[in-house]
Amino acid sequence: MHTLLVTGGAGFIGSNFVHYVLGKYPDYAVVVLDKLTYAGNLDNLRDLTEGPRYRFVRGDIADAALVERLVGEHGVRAIVNFAAETHVDRSIMDPGAFIQTDVYGTHVLLEATRKCGLDRMVHISTDEVYGSVPTGLSTEEDKLEPRSPYAASKAGAELIAFAYHTTYATPVVVTRGANTIGPCQYPEKAVPLFTTNALDDQPLPIYGTGTAVRDYIYVEDHCAGIDLVLHQGEPGRAYNIGAGNEVNTVELAAAILDFLGKPHSLMRFVADRPGHDMRYALDTARLRALGWAPRYSFHEAMEKTVAWYRDNEWWWRRIKSGEYLEYYRKQYGRQPT
Ligand code: NAD
Ligand code: TYD
Repeated sequence: MHTLLVTGGAGFIGSNFVHYVLGKYPDYAVVVLDKLTYAGNLDNLRDLTEGPRYRFVRGDIADAALVERLVGEHGVRAIVNFAAETHVDRSIMDPGAFIQTDVYGTHVLLEATRKCGLDRMVHISTDEVYGSVPTGLSTEEDKLEPRSPYAASKAGAELIAFAYHTTYATPVVVTRGANTIGPCQYPEKAVPLFTTNALDDQPLPIYGTGTAVRDYIYVEDHCAGIDLVLHQGEPGRAYNIGAGNEVNTVELAAAILDFLGKPHSLMRFVADRPGHDMRYALDTARLRALGWAPRYSFHEAMEKTVAWYRDNEWWWRRIKSGEYLEYYRKQYGRQPT
């Protein structure tokens, strides 16, 4: 049995990855370590039963004693680190938690990988570390120029990871994923926010002129890329994971509204995000050379995603109350209803 410690496994991509790995590798076991912040959600793992192949532990990646105990107790051979504070707008409101979890927490996991002699650590990073790229595609050798507190904390974590590889030969690899969409994404990110607002005939808040471009990738394609890097990535290297879609916010909102049969008049232009990165775009030749290619087009990815929120109101209705309403009021100056 090959045991992975999947940190942040109750979040959006982490929980999709847990299902992906348990489905693909019958001889793998997964221990999920998750703090269950506002974005962590046990509903994302509710179909899994605790047993020899799956364990859930609530805790903080910054707790070194806990991490090392879990590695020893469960015979963990590799760590895949999804745990992070992840939302740019929240990082603008309150950067401290981002530095604590994304930078210091990653350091704790690197230290456990080194001290316990693990086979591998995969650190999940983001295309946002390149900063705003007006033209062309970012390659893994490009300079890191993060511009938001979120992106800067992710870049800081990467630099520590590479320093561990250089200094201690720690077998760490880094993935830099594009904007990911699919089931179980907390509805503060653009796609689940726009979709759930549209389902309720509420306005879709579009920052500035709506011309900021992102590359939207389906979560299953992102997980397949991480899986490949886990098994075949070269330690000390970064791997871009993007689908090559260039979609701006107005086009994104239009695709969601059209699929749901809702009017474009629901688009509402609001104040821009401070320091808004206007474009991300990735060169994925390095990952493609390992045999990866995305399976879903932008429209397929979008339709599968929007249909999932349409069909799983139970999942998001409960979230869109309480703390979420407080955040929404602070961010948009109004409640969604
Ligand atoms: P998410 O916010 O849905 O999930 C993050 C998870 O980490 C949550 O379950 C949360 O409870 C947990 N967590 C937070 N702090 C923790 C701590 N201190 N200890 C243990 N667990 C903690 O995020 P996501 O969208 O699934 O992103 C996962 C990873 O992928 C992140 O590292 C993010 O930077 C990266 N990423 C995300 C995207 C995207 O579009 N969502 C794109 C590229 C990279
Ligand atoms: P988001 O999902 O927050 O991801 P990113 O980390 O790339 O910013 O936002 C995706 C794009 O949508 C980004 O250009 C910001 C924009 N956006 C809006 O226009 N309105 C919103 O309410 C949100 C959350 C995002």
